[in-house]
Amino acid sequence: MYQIIFATGNAGKMKEVREILADLPAQVLSMKEAGIDTDIVEDGTSFEENAVIKARAVAGALGEREKAVVLADDSGLEIDWLDGEPGIYSARYMGEDTSYRIKNANLIARLDGVPPEKRTARFVCAIAAVLPDGEVLTTRGVIEGKIGYEERGANGFGYDPIFYLPDMSRTTAELTPAEKNAVSHRGNALMAMKKELSERMQG
Ligand code: IMP
Repeated sequence: MYQIIFATGNAGKMKEVREILADLPAQVLSMKEAGIDTDIVEDGTSFEENAVIKARAVAGALGEREKAVVLADDSGLEIDWLDGEPGIYSARYMGEDTSYRIKNANLIARLDGVPPEKRTARFVCAIAAVLPDGEVLTTRGVIEGKIGYEERGANGFGYDPIFYLPDMSRTTAELTPAEKNAVSHRGNALMAMKKELSERMQG
C-alpha cells in the first residue's frame, strides 16, 4: 500500500485532497500525521518551482520510505491588468498578517475605472510529487475569471470574494465547496496528478 503525504498545514486543503484522492490505492496523510514538522522557505520563481521546493523538503525530512509519495501545492491569483500580480506572492501580498478584506479592497482600488473586459484574472495551482525513486512530477490547474467591483459571498477564503466567474454569475466565494472543487484550479491540478499517480500505482 502506498502512502501519500501532502505537504500542508492547512486543514481545508487536506480535506479537499483526501476527497479527490480517495479512490487511489494509497493512504493519504497530512505532514503532521506523517510526523514531519519542517519550516520551508519558498524562494522559487514560479508556482511549479515553489511546489517542488516544498515537496522535496518534506521528502528529505521523511528519509527513505518505500512506497511514500510526497505531494505539495503552490497557488495564487494572477491579475492581467497588474501584470500578473500578486502571483506567487499572493499569500504575502501586503504582508502575511494583513486581512483579506484589506487585500481585496486594495486590489479593487488598483483596478478603479478598469472596464469589465480588462479585469481578467486567474487562480493557478501547481502540484508537485516526489516519488519513492526520486522522480519529480508537476501538474497545473487554472480557473479563469474576472476581478469584481466589491466583495461578494462568504464561502471559500482569501481572494474568493472578488474572483467572479462570468459563466456562473457568481464569485468563487458564492459557490458551495463541492461546486468550487469541481471547477477550481486546485481541483483540476489534483485530478491531473491523480491520473499520473494512478498510472504509476498499477500493480
Ligand atoms: P499557498 O498556495 O498556500 O502558498 O497560498 C496561496 C495564496 O493564494 C492563498 O493564501 C490565497 O491568498 C491565494 N489563493 C490560492 N487559492 C485560492 C483560492 O482558491 N481562493 C482564494 N484565494 C486563493
